[in-house]
Amino acid sequence: RKELGGDEFVGRILHFDSVESTMPIAHREAQEGAADGTVIIAEEQTSGKGRLARPWTSAAGKGIWMSVILTPDIPPHKAPQFTLIAAVSVCRAIRETAGVEARIKWPNDLLAGGRKVTGILTELQADPDRVKAIIIGIGINVNQDPGDFPESLQPIATSLKIQSGQKVDRAKLAAGVLRRLGECSRLYLEKGFPPIKKMWEEDAITIGRRVKAVTVRETLTGTAVGITEEGVLELRLDDGTIRGIYSADIELQD
Ligand code: BTN
Repeated sequence: RKELGGDEFVGRILHFDSVESTMPIAHREAQEGAADGTVIIAEEQTSGKGRLARPWTSAAGKGIWMSVILTPDIPPHKAPQFTLIAAVSVCRAIRETAGVEARIKWPNDLLAGGRKVTGILTELQADPDRVKAIIIGIGINVNQDPGDFPESLQPIATSLKIQSGQKVDRAKLAAGVLRRLGECSRLYLEKGFPPIKKMWEEDAITIGRRVKAVTVRETLTGTAVGITEEGVLELRLDDGTIRGIYSADIELQD
């Protein structure tokens, strides 16, 4: 706890050399009653999971691959707000610790130099009326060189080392992320969603931009104007109507 910054938010830290994915381990720990702020972190994931059942490349010693268990007393429909809390926390910790200007691309990718540097995956354990645990999976590409990424990812992925030109201390960055996550969770529980929404919109690259949103049903083009309390992206279409986008891949148009 001390080593990771002495913040009281950080609970037990389970550190592994190699796992398939930190997500199922976190689910098991949560089911067994893990405390708020429990962290599962691995040097390597052999089968890392991304959103929409995509794989997540997690090379040994090159990044931060971790799942954080949170147990806020909130109804399940508010859980997506914690994805936004996580995005803001990681974005700010990256800026503070690595000096890299990361930006949030809705819903929760972080880009640096226009390429993906971090992915966030939120999963839930809940009763109909109460959240039991939120598992926030955070994958940060830290010290990869361009050749460390599989060829298919090379045009779209980047690392903090590539962006800053120097190696980044992973322990310091992990501590920064957890400290920020603790601060933002507390802010949210005390003041509600508005201050988080403000921080998210400050850090987002999506807002005010023309985007193409590819959903399972359709492709929409318009200007991203903001997010709602539920983290839904609001798109102003060319005919002036506002559409809420719940789940999509977003391409920035200009
Ligand atoms: C995405 O952008 O699709 C989300 C990627 C999330 C990756 C992290 S790494 C730690 C945790 N364990 C996993 O298997 N996935 C998440």
